[in-house]
Amino acid sequence: MEENFKLTDQVELKESLTTKWQAPSNIALVKYWGKHGVQLPANPSISFTLDACRTITSVKASKGTHGFSISYDGVEKPEFAPKIKAYFERISSYCPWITSYHFEIDTHNTFPHSSGIASSASSMAALSACVMDFESELTGTSLDYHKMSFLSRLGSGSACRSLKGAAVLWGEHVDTDGSSNLYGIDKSDLLHPVFQDFQDTILLVDKGEKVVSSTVGHDLMNDHAYASARFEQAQSNLTILKKALKDGDLATFIKITESEALTLHAMMMTSHPYFILMKPNTLSIIEEIWAFRKEMQIPVCFTLDAGANVHMLYPSEHKTAVDGLINNKLTKYCQNSHYICDQIGTGAKKC
Ligand code: PMV
Repeated sequence: MEENFKLTDQVELKESLTTKWQAPSNIALVKYWGKHGVQLPANPSISFTLDACRTITSVKASKGTHGFSISYDGVEKPEFAPKIKAYFERISSYCPWITSYHFEIDTHNTFPHSSGIASSASSMAALSACVMDFESELTGTSLDYHKMSFLSRLGSGSACRSLKGAAVLWGEHVDTDGSSNLYGIDKSDLLHPVFQDFQDTILLVDKGEKVVSSTVGHDLMNDHAYASARFEQAQSNLTILKKALKDGDLATFIKITESEALTLHAMMMTSHPYFILMKPNTLSIIEEIWAFRKEMQIPVCFTLDAGANVHMLYPSEHKTAVDGLINNKLTKYCQNSHYICDQIGTGAKKC
């Protein structure tokens, strides 16, 4: 199947090409945790695409010796080079024309660098969008969003869910036709109106570097005592969640989303070596959300990614009430009282 993404036609090279794309971050509801081969997921996942947390990347390609420079806001960033180099090496058999170009890449994130929000998904998605934009210009064909997602996955697994659609499903799922381990598929059609303007307020509990990277965490699932049960559970949770998204069933949405977040962290706490990424303030926020939901009967819930920050998810009609909760109860648990207001978005866009 990977073979289908190899560009075999000869292309007529142009002297230079330029483009600029922005791509968002995403937040998984059913979590991807565990992988094999080259960034192939051990279980299927689904995410909401975000809007405000984005990477904006401009690329100039000049015909000549293959190589690249990478800067952030115009300032050279040699520390980003190894990841980009590995990415170009991985994608070169699928986009052979890249070896005839030198790329000048400049990127910018709309969210602060040290916010504990991983930029790998949005940055790899934005760069892949630029690469596919060039490929479409050179081949005279329309943009191939599946290949864009495929290339992003080779840069960073969950990046393949940041290209197209408000909800994206990645990984072979028993109950989803067209699902693939190779790329994410747009499942916006699943979303009942109540989810179409969902809010995600990201409470920044800890802006520091993670003690254990996602790469190490995924690897620890290889010999994990609960791995096979977890991978099966993700399949069935996805089936249940898809139905809840379609029906606008908030109670089931909350049950699956929170359980998935806690299961992700339970996997971390029960791997060898074990580790904990949540902080005391993460738990305090979760307790406040539970108390608020019970008292106010407002369908707000949380999810977590591989870190201490809390994503608070809720329908936009409850924004005023939830703002009250944030200001009165939650900012005291956030580092420097910082949080980011985001919402469901639609994917990558050309600037
Ligand atoms: O794409 P990675 O390798 O950074 O892994 C992301 C893993 C989680 O964020 C914890 C879950 C997910 O599905 O996004």
